[in-house]
Amino acid sequence: MEFNNVGVVGAGVMGIGVAQNLAETGHHVVLIDIDPKQLERARDSIRTNVRMQGFFNKKSGAPKAATVLERISFTTDYQKLSVADFLVENVVEKWDVKQQVYRQIDSICPPACIFAANTSAISITRIASATNRPDRVVGMHFMNPVPLKSMVEVIRGHHTSSDTLDKARTFLAEMGKEWIVVNDMPGFVSNRVLMLTVNEAIFLVQDQVASAEDIDHLFKSCFGHKMGPLETGDLIGLDTILYSLEVLYESYNDDKFRPCPLLKKMVHAGLHGRKSGRGFYNYEESAVAVAG
Ligand SMILES: NC(=O)c1ccc[n+]([C@@H]2O[C@H](COP(=O)([O-])OP(=O)(O)OC[C@H]3O[C@@H](n4cnc5c(N)ncnc54)[C@H](O)[C@@H]3O)[C@@H](O)[C@H]2O)c1
Repeated sequence: MEFNNVGVVGAGVMGIGVAQNLAETGHHVVLIDIDPKQLERARDSIRTNVRMQGFFNKKSGAPKAATVLERISFTTDYQKLSVADFLVENVVEKWDVKQQVYRQIDSICPPACIFAANTSAISITRIASATNRPDRVVGMHFMNPVPLKSMVEVIRGHHTSSDTLDKARTFLAEMGKEWIVVNDMPGFVSNRVLMLTVNEAIFLVQDQVASAEDIDHLFKSCFGHKMGPLETGDLIGLDTILYSLEVLYESYNDDKFRPCPLLKKMVHAGLHGRKSGRGFYNYEESAVAVAG
């Protein structure tokens, strides 16, 4: 294995999935968050998720929850990243927070360490500008839930080198993933389309054109989607949808990305979707197991 010491920064919905997937594929992981409670939640979620996967998927050789957890060190101490040879960043979708995190990891991680930004919409070129290693920064847009989704959108920033792209491919192969490489523009391919769709579906609810259930039902029955746009919004996290739309709105200076007022209201009310137990649907009983 080429990358055995992997740093994962941010232990929310995505960081938990990335850390779990890496540990399941034999990597040693340092999982960092600023919030110790979030690290405790991450440990509980990974234990539950690995057990549930083991229950549904009886594949022989799949590691047990205890083995997966032994491979992950849960910490708030950024200095533990001083030996990382690859890092996946998954902190909240806010430029000010990401910029500060990249400055910090740039000063701690070895110069050869590759930084993979798991962002929904922020330009990889902009993220790379917060470091002194723009050639070793690449976008790695994982899909949620990470251990169950094989495809990753890889984004080549303006300065991303061919060597970094090769290393990113090796890293993803070690995680058991497939990838498609795209060029850098905010939102890339998937979220430039998806965020507009989710936002417009929220406008439909706000305008009382149809219920969330009926909108999702139409997308599933008519277009063969596995989930409707509002279920997808709840899965991603309505706060992350709002922050991503704000990034797109600011990046393109285009009104088409203006976030729906109902979305803002729900986020301000704490209705963040699965991870908070409520969004367009109610997940209160199954929130921990499903959201990871
Ligand atoms: N949710 C999705 O479906 C999805 C999919 C692909 C990419 N993303 C992107 O992944 C990133 C994380 O999203 P998420 O859904 O996991 O968000 P989340 O809100 O669930 O988790 C974000 C985590 O970042 C932590 N954090 C904040 N500041 C930090 C700091 N300075 N250092 C360390 N940790 C810090 C928070 O405590 C929190 O645990 C975002 O950029 C998002 O756009 C999300």
